Amino acid sequence: MSYTDTPLVEIAGLSKSYGKHHVLKDLNLTLPPGIHALLGPNGAGKTTLVNILSTLIPYSAGQARVLGLDVQRDRKQLQGLISLTGQYAAVDGALSGMENMLMMGQLFGLTRRDAKRRADDLLERFELTKAAGKRAATYSGGMRRKLDIAASLIAGPQLIFLDEPTTGLDTRSRQALWDEINTLAAAGTSIFLTTQYLEEADVLAERIMVLNGGGIVADGTAAQLKQRVGGSTIQLHDDAGHIIETLPTHGDAADVAHQLAAISEQRPEVSVTVRKPTMDEVFLELTGAPVPTNSNKKEATSE
Ligand SMILES: Nc1ncnc2c1ncn2[C@@H]1O[C@H](COP(=O)(O)OP(=O)(O)OP(=O)(O)O)[C@@H](O)[C@H]1O
Ligand SMILES: [Mg+2]
Repeated sequence: MSYTDTPLVEIAGLSKSYGKHHVLKDLNLTLPPGIHALLGPNGAGKTTLVNILSTLIPYSAGQARVLGLDVQRDRKQLQGLISLTGQYAAVDGALSGMENMLMMGQLFGLTRRDAKRRADDLLERFELTKAAGKRAATYSGGMRRKLDIAASLIAGPQLIFLDEPTTGLDTRSRQALWDEINTLAAAGTSIFLTTQYLEEADVLAERIMVLNGGGIVADGTAAQLKQRVGGSTIQLHDDAGHIIETLPTHGDAADVAHQLAAISEQRPEVSVTVRKPTMDEVFLELTGAPVPTNSNKKEATSE
């Protein structure tokens, strides 16, 4: 069965409340197949949304379809097509890495032989072959995380939900996981991930959504989000390197050249840098979180 023409995710008027606490408010979203990242501060509702879309918890109102299937009505069917790696590792510490993999394979209805073949391959890709026979309880946090993700891939799902997949991974493991995500995506698997690492969203995702205050406050490519918070700027520095003024620019060569010519004529004493906002600045701006005070970046945004 092919789902290529079907939206990956279709959400209409989706809300989720815990008592009087409205965590998600009237969300509307349609996503095509691909890699999508959900950002948001702690408590924004990222895990809640992932858990709803992966059929773990019910929503309060609205509609949600994943791969064309209703997340509540078609729950069982959908569960065979998706996988979820939760925010907290769900491996069984009493079992070895290999046993965890085989158990997951069995849960998804693979034959033991297929499960073993897939498990060997995945353990190798996640550099866990040497540890495969050891009890998962003896693994480091990062190894557990990798095993958890490897196990979720055993049945070759069409869509993978990853809730903060690289939290706690070292730089090399994070890079390895990014490569793995790109490999999976190139082979036609869609990914819906949440992350606290903005660089991760920037590097991986075709589309980034920022969740805050119960709603999606920004949605677009990394470049579009950066543009939304003001695009590139020209910063003027004094002798000591402090920013004394920040000028907006479209970022294209003609505009930058035009402004630099004026600066060089009128204020030859200043030095200049041209910079794009970082994803961190985009995130802080969009979520209203305070900008760190221990940097003079603050001046740059006080136009
Ligand atoms: N079972 C629950 N009962 C009551 N409130 C809950 C429950 N689960 C989540 N919440 C509340 O919903 C809000 C969103 O939580 P959620 O875990 O979805 O946030 P998050 O964006 O994943 O945060 P983090 O970045 O810390 O993982 C929080 O205020 C949380 O306290
Ligand atoms: Mg969470």
